[in-house]
Amino acid sequence: MENIHPIFDRLLQRKDREAFLNQKAKVLWLTGLSGSGKSTIAQALERELYNRGYFAQVLDGDNIRNGINNNLGFSLKDRKENIRRIAEVAKLYLHSGVISINSFISPTQEIRAFAKSIIGSEDFIEIYINTPLEVCESRDVKGLYKKARKGEIEGFTGIDSPYEVPEEPDLEIKTEQQSIQESVAIILEYVIPIIKLN
Ligand code: ADX
Repeated sequence: MENIHPIFDRLLQRKDREAFLNQKAKVLWLTGLSGSGKSTIAQALERELYNRGYFAQVLDGDNIRNGINNNLGFSLKDRKENIRRIAEVAKLYLHSGVISINSFISPTQEIRAFAKSIIGSEDFIEIYINTPLEVCESRDVKGLYKKARKGEIEGFTGIDSPYEVPEEPDLEIKTEQQSIQESVAIILEYVIPIIKLN
């Protein structure tokens, strides 16, 4: 160790950045089926946090898969790599003091535990967007369930690829029973005491 000169004391720390932004950084991890409402809730949540003076950023499956993860498909192996990269990106945000709202199916216990282990359990808030498959399928906003049923998409989550229900999420949102605004209000009520600095 003699010749090693760490410079940590000269670097800005996470807590300095959090103080600058007047918030505590966390990763809000939204999991649920395709069409469950994750992205819509994530975006509305980002807006409401912004309105209250919090600096948050949505990371979303469809967008990320267009860019940084455009070489990945939907095998369980690729989904795991998708989530690994996203968790690493979210960790960078975390250390910049930014709240990240991650909206990914993240279909298995193993994948979510993996994300949590990368991010750190104290900073990982798991929010299960619980919308029954029948409801997601009847909404079918992107027409993907129809295609999956016709066999035009292989390995579609909930049809012929698993979705394991979170066993102990920090928060569960049943979207069938409430509006987007109501869902967001429940999340805010839970999250604000956690991200509030003082
Ligand atoms: S994850 O399983 O790796 O977490 P992710 O959230 O990034 O998935 O991407 C899900 C989105 O990809 C869906 O909302 C849907 O629009 C699209 N998609 C395309 N093919 C599939 C598939 N086979 N299974 C699930 N979603 C798919």
